[in-house]
Amino acid sequence: MTTIASKHVLVTGGASGLGRGLALHCAALGATVSVLDLNEAGAESAAATAAAQGAGAAAGYGCDVGDREQVADVAERVLAASGPVDILVNNAGVVSGRALLELTDEQIEQTFRVNTLALFWVTRAFLPAMIERGGGHIVVVSSAAGLIGTPRETDYAASKFAAVGFTESLRLELRRSAPTLRTTTVCPFYIDTGMFAGVRTRFPRLLPILHEADVVEAIIDAVQFDKPMVQLPWMVRTLPAMRLLPVAAFDRLAEFFGLTVSMDEFRGREATGSPAARESAGGPV
Ligand SMILES: NC(=O)c1ccc[n+]([C@@H]2O[C@H](COP(=O)([O-])OP(=O)(O)OC[C@H]3O[C@@H](n4cnc5c(N)ncnc54)[C@H](OP(=O)(O)O)[C@@H]3O)[C@@H](O)[C@H]2O)c1
Repeated sequence: MTTIASKHVLVTGGASGLGRGLALHCAALGATVSVLDLNEAGAESAAATAAAQGAGAAAGYGCDVGDREQVADVAERVLAASGPVDILVNNAGVVSGRALLELTDEQIEQTFRVNTLALFWVTRAFLPAMIERGGGHIVVVSSAAGLIGTPRETDYAASKFAAVGFTESLRLELRRSAPTLRTTTVCPFYIDTGMFAGVRTRFPRLLPILHEADVVEAIIDAVQFDKPMVQLPWMVRTLPAMRLLPVAAFDRLAEFFGLTVSMDEFRGREATGSPAARESAGGPV
């Protein structure tokens, strides 16, 4: 079992939602926490709250994780300030929620920069010190959209499928080259953080919109008990079996479960405001 207490946990996208919840929870368990986010004030605010609630230190850093140079620069500062990272949580993510022909070129590129390429820049920045010390855990927050595509998610699902492939390849690489290191791929259905505001589920008992706190707990549990995969809710785990069906039957099942219309009313962050705007308004982030 891996204990969180006294570990150095780094969370990307930690100014809001799942990342913020993870940073606060790990701090409460006694970890030293580094929070990276595009929103520097939000990262600092999350770190201040984490430090106030937890036993260890916490620091926030402004960083666009899709920018290789910014990641290299912040990694130097994090390592100098708090030492090697024990638990790296690649959590930052963006969603556009538009059909393929409605997406701008910039949105497509941004989705891949943040959801996919950032995994390379951030992991490559912190992995060498983990290998050197012979320990560490890399978490990649993908999505159920990394296992099944839906309308209005061509960019998002493609970037999250890539995140699943990235983590699987890394896991198998590390089994050979650094077998004491661990990875966890996280594939949740929709979560109530506001990122996917407006989405619907046809069968809330089978496929509920998840609560942020439950996903945070599941990720921490996976780190503590070395679980390589988190799929929530349990229905997500049936996807590989569904894929044994002919494609036409698979598509009909996806339609039956309402997945193909789940994004029809998507409004995303514009419904709840950006974390930065809500923070400056004094509301919950
Ligand atoms: N919410 C869901 O339904 C759901 C379901 C499955 C998987 N996920 C995944 O879970 C992760 C966390 O999502 P969430 O729901 O917690 O969303 P969220 O509340 O919007 O959090 C995402 C955070 O990432 C930050 N971020 C965006 N671009 C960044 C960049 N280039 N560099 C650094 N930070 C950046 C955002 O900052 P700004 O707001 O300042 O841009 C925000 O603080 C994401 O990877 C998401 O894809 C979410």
